[in-house]
Amino acid sequence: MKAESVLVLIKPDGMQKGIAGDVIGLFLAGDLKLTGLKVVQVSPRLAQAHYGHLRGQFFFKEIVTYLMGDLHAKNPVVAMVFTGPQAVSKCRKIAGATNPEEADPRSVRGKFGRVTTKGVFENLVHVSSDVKEARREIALWFKKNEILK
Ligand code: TYD
Repeated sequence: MKAESVLVLIKPDGMQKGIAGDVIGLFLAGDLKLTGLKVVQVSPRLAQAHYGHLRGQFFFKEIVTYLMGDLHAKNPVVAMVFTGPQAVSKCRKIAGATNPEEADPRSVRGKFGRVTTKGVFENLVHVSSDVKEARREIALWFKKNEILK
């Protein structure tokens, strides 16, 4: 089966909780190759570009400031690329549903996520939605020479 790549982010809430190691472990257990990894202090420009397709949504401003760490003590993001057959669907399964209350209890979001009393989804990770989106996002977060072949 043809290999594909996917962008996985541990967002600032995951960093603030000190669980990046556990989260990376859950993704590594998915039998994919880790082909890129770095820590990023997210700028407004990067956050807005990352969520560009959600610009019209009522929660757009919130998710941009969230990714910048403004809601979580200015924590950074860990950005990773995983590569292998069905990498996107495998990583989305490991992450779990967008709403942590609906996520499989064994998934990252089911284990560690929460919905705040203000209704914010603190769902810890981002995983690209499909192969095309993954290509766009990986090019946004990584230089070519930062990713293994
Ligand atoms: P989206 O890309 O649709 O979800 P996913 O991260 O599972 O691919 O949405 C981006 C983020 O926006 C999501 O991680 C949490 C937030 N969000 C809300 O706060 N409310 C919502 O109703 C949705 C759909 C998303």
